[in-house]
Amino acid sequence: MTNPDSDAILLHSATPETTAAVAERLATCCPDAAVVYLEGDLGAGKSVFARAFLKALGVSGSIKSPTYTLIETYPLQDGRDAVHMDLYRIADPDELDYLALDAVLEHLRVMLVEWPQRGAGRLPAADVIVALVFDDDGRVLKMRAITARGDAWLRTFGQSHSAVAEV
Ligand SMILES: Nc1ncnc2c1ncn2[C@@H]1O[C@H](COP(=O)(O)OP(=O)(O)OP(=O)(O)O)[C@@H](O)[C@H]1O
Ligand SMILES: [Mg+2]
Repeated sequence: MTNPDSDAILLHSATPETTAAVAERLATCCPDAAVVYLEGDLGAGKSVFARAFLKALGVSGSIKSPTYTLIETYPLQDGRDAVHMDLYRIADPDELDYLALDAVLEHLRVMLVEWPQRGAGRLPAADVIVALVFDDDGRVLKMRAITARGDAWLRTFGQSHSAVAEV
């Protein structure tokens, strides 16, 4: 199920802390085996978002940037994995074949992907796409559901985001 753009949730984020708070709240109601694409230009805040999301799921210690490794996997207390990918540096989606993503998906709690367009055709479909866009004094976070599961997720999130001003 694809939602029209009008159903997107738009939030203004003036600071990295606000972006992190939005990510935490989205993580709190994250369904099993969810896939999130993080879109936006260099420095838009995708990694800020991903780190806060992973911490909210219980990842402790340093969260490394997967810019060179392409993928970082974090085992969670429930035995499943949170996966953080950054595909900025791949030249061709075929490079993802070496990552054995099918095996990764068997134990997936959540997958967060920066620069997902560079892995087109090789990634699992997104449940939710979060686009971070530069705005005058911060960022706009545009959250869009792609699947029915993503739609239910964003509805639940929408009931809890009143602390963040909408655009
Ligand atoms: N409202 C905001 N939300 C998120 N980050 C912000 C905001 N305002 C300023 N920043 C700053 O912008 C930078 C975002 O860096 P980050 O590494 O998260 O970007 P990125 O989108 O992951 O970039 P890349 O494509 O290089 O991976 C940080 O230095 C952060 O402090
Ligand atoms: Mg990044």
